[in-house]
Amino acid sequence: MGALDIAALEAEARSRLDPAVYDYVAGGAGEEWTLQANERAYQAYSLAPRVLRGTGPPDLTGGLLGQAMSMPLVIAPTAFHRLAHADGESGTAWAAAQAGIPMILSLAATEAIEAVAQAAGICPWFQLYIQPDLGFTETLIRRAEAAGCPALVVTVDSPAFGRRKRDQVHGFTDLPSGFACENMREAPGLPPRQIAFSPALSWHEIDWLRARTGLPILLKGIMHPRDARLAIEHGVDGIYVSNHGGRQLDGTAPTLSLLPAIAGEVAGQVPIFFDGGIRRGTDILKALALGADVVAIGRPVIWGLAAGGAAGVAALLEAFRDDLAHSLLLSGCGSPADLDPSMLLREGGS
Ligand SMILES: Cc1cc2nc3c(=O)[nH]c(=O)nc-3n(C[C@H](O)[C@H](O)[C@H](O)COP(=O)(O)O)c2cc1C
Repeated sequence: MGALDIAALEAEARSRLDPAVYDYVAGGAGEEWTLQANERAYQAYSLAPRVLRGTGPPDLTGGLLGQAMSMPLVIAPTAFHRLAHADGESGTAWAAAQAGIPMILSLAATEAIEAVAQAAGICPWFQLYIQPDLGFTETLIRRAEAAGCPALVVTVDSPAFGRRKRDQVHGFTDLPSGFACENMREAPGLPPRQIAFSPALSWHEIDWLRARTGLPILLKGIMHPRDARLAIEHGVDGIYVSNHGGRQLDGTAPTLSLLPAIAGEVAGQVPIFFDGGIRRGTDILKALALGADVVAIGRPVIWGLAAGGAAGVAALLEAFRDDLAHSLLLSGCGSPADLDPSMLLREGGS
């Protein structure tokens, strides 16, 4: 991949994937309004670049939660990488390590965290759906800690599984035989448990988790400023604004629209991670200018993996880096820190 072109990459991936797998990745809940709105939202903002600032080539490097990052981009947790390519989660993690950015490994990964860490030479961050069996949840945490995991990303937008028509059409309800959620085994050789989505989860379980691990905790799927406030009160280390890529509640606002109020409430107390529809460098600029510290990408990574395995993901990440640097330069910014809200205009509104 040369220039960043996610539509072309998706087309290439689609030509290689089983249609049921393609639709599982590409699709969203309900009418897919939120899925579409996430990507479209960037068009509602225009940039007002600065000039003559003599910045030189932009410096994208930074770090958060004790992690150095070569750019403000991370790999969002997505399930089932081995369905996209035999390189699987190990291939994605290797590419992330080469690029100098974190990968968040899904609880629904088709490879064990220890194997992924070994392949990449560095342990990924671990995404957790808190399981109603807290004893089992604790074994998951200890396993991630033992593997060297630097942070836990707890997804809180899923008291139930989203309803996705494309999956119903294909009858895609679970992994095909030969694949498993390898981190759901209580011990090697034992059959994996099913991932449970519990409607009973509350802040009580976040307190429980906070008391049981010293790892940084991010809450993924925060969509309302009051929940951002509560998260900080309950001692989390980061807020991750996400609507699950439009895969949970259709009709949810695009994440770019949700971001400013949440950023206002958080007011720099903890870092803000953000995802939903990021497809180009200027999308990243707009999210950062509206208050995100780091953005994440979901589907584009699967397209890169399907199209070219680990090397495909590595090429995708370099294309994102190049497009982000180019967009910053043309905006008169020497680094992401030079962006500010005055450089964004909301079309048709304030
Ligand atoms: C195929 C697929 C699987 C996903 N699996 C998970 C998951 O296991 N856990 C989770 O927290 N989010 C999951 N997500 C949501 C992503 O982490 C992320 O929020 C979303 O993909 C971001 O939107 P984008 O795809 O437009 O970049 C998944 C998304 C996709 C597309």
